[in-house]
Amino acid sequence: MTVPPYGGPVRRRTTKTGQSALAAKTGRPALAVVGATGAVGTVMLQILSQHADIWGEIRLVASPRSAGRKLSVRGEQVEVVALTEEVFDGIDVAMFDVPDEVAERWAPVAAAKGAVVVDNSGAFRMDPEVPLVVPEVNPHAARVRPRGIVANPNCTTLSMIVALGALHAEFGLRELVVSSYQAVSGAGQRGVDTLRQQLKLVAGTELGTTPGDVRRAVGDNTGPFPEPVALNVVPWAGSLREDGWSSEEMKVRDESRKILGLPNLPVAVTCVRVPVVTTHSLTVHARFQGEVTVNRAREILATAPGVVLFDNPAAGEFPTPADVVGTDPTWVGRVRRTLDDPTALELFVCGDNLRKGAALNTAQIAELVAAEL
Ligand SMILES: NC(=O)c1ccc[n+]([C@@H]2O[C@H](COP(=O)([O-])OP(=O)(O)OC[C@H]3O[C@@H](n4cnc5c(N)ncnc54)[C@H](OP(=O)(O)O)[C@@H]3O)[C@@H](O)[C@H]2O)c1
Repeated sequence: MTVPPYGGPVRRRTTKTGQSALAAKTGRPALAVVGATGAVGTVMLQILSQHADIWGEIRLVASPRSAGRKLSVRGEQVEVVALTEEVFDGIDVAMFDVPDEVAERWAPVAAAKGAVVVDNSGAFRMDPEVPLVVPEVNPHAARVRPRGIVANPNCTTLSMIVALGALHAEFGLRELVVSSYQAVSGAGQRGVDTLRQQLKLVAGTELGTTPGDVRRAVGDNTGPFPEPVALNVVPWAGSLREDGWSSEEMKVRDESRKILGLPNLPVAVTCVRVPVVTTHSLTVHARFQGEVTVNRAREILATAPGVVLFDNPAAGEFPTPADVVGTDPTWVGRVRRTLDDPTALELFVCGDNLRKGAALNTAQIAELVAAEL
């Protein structure tokens, strides 16, 4: 199909002045947060309370289990409503922070009712008619949305892509080799609950000294993880894909290629879960088109929007999840040129998977869209 230059064929319920009914009343666009009670939704409400208040009504939506609960946003208590077709009446932008199958079913409903959907799930990320957007890297892509949907990348990709996008713009990326050290909140609220429960069971013990002692202590309660995550690292995230790859590993590969506009970029990823509540870390081996210098790489990272260079190993300074959690930027340390390849760099990157890795990027996309309305 032909893609119109801006906005796509969005079907919008409008007044005679071209605005949605609520936007016309308040002068500001109306927002729905679908999945407001979840791990990402909770951080989203904090971000909406901290960012410039550009929204008229903010409607909070979740499953019928949460209907009637009150949540705080912009200093006000707002009642959660159950997801139905009617919740999108008068809504200009609908953020979806819900499981894939819920987004798959309901995002098109919201788009058909005239809302621009910004979807945090994996349901539409690889749809060629849905842009996958990181505002620091490819903001222009958000304006072309034939299905009325803009997708937010997955948290592991987002935790590194702002820094990589800046390096790619200067050096031209040729290859990526990535290992992740992923926080349990990447598996939602249930992941956090599982780690906290397991930590209670192992705290103050001598466990971790004989094979299987941690597994016996935590029992079968491994929650969304295939192995105990307390006192452990688990080389797995997501579900099984072809040839032993995990879905999370395939997401990092496919989404990095789409965001950077490099459909043939060689990407090899190993995803590992670690006993960290929030903030994903990654080691990145990035090979570029020609020789690179650490000094120039450091200059680029030190000045790139959304990136903090924190790299002084002599002083013991490098990013760690314990310091990065709750912050917005992508933090980069341990910048080195690969010893055996002058065209490649080694980096250690940390990003809060619930902020830039999810809610913040979604909020930034929604703000880009709102500026058009
Ligand atoms: N966690 C991360 O780091 C991260 C990062 C990037 C993207 N994401 C994606 O963001 C989405 C949300 O993840 P999360 O970690 O916030 O999950 P979560 O903590 O499990 O929260 C899920 C949310 O979806 C709602 N929900 C579930 N089923 C529903 C239904 N049938 N109808 C309406 N609402 C329903 C839940 O409402 P109730 O409370 O009423 O059940 C809750 O608000 C997922 O697609 C995830 O892959 C997560």
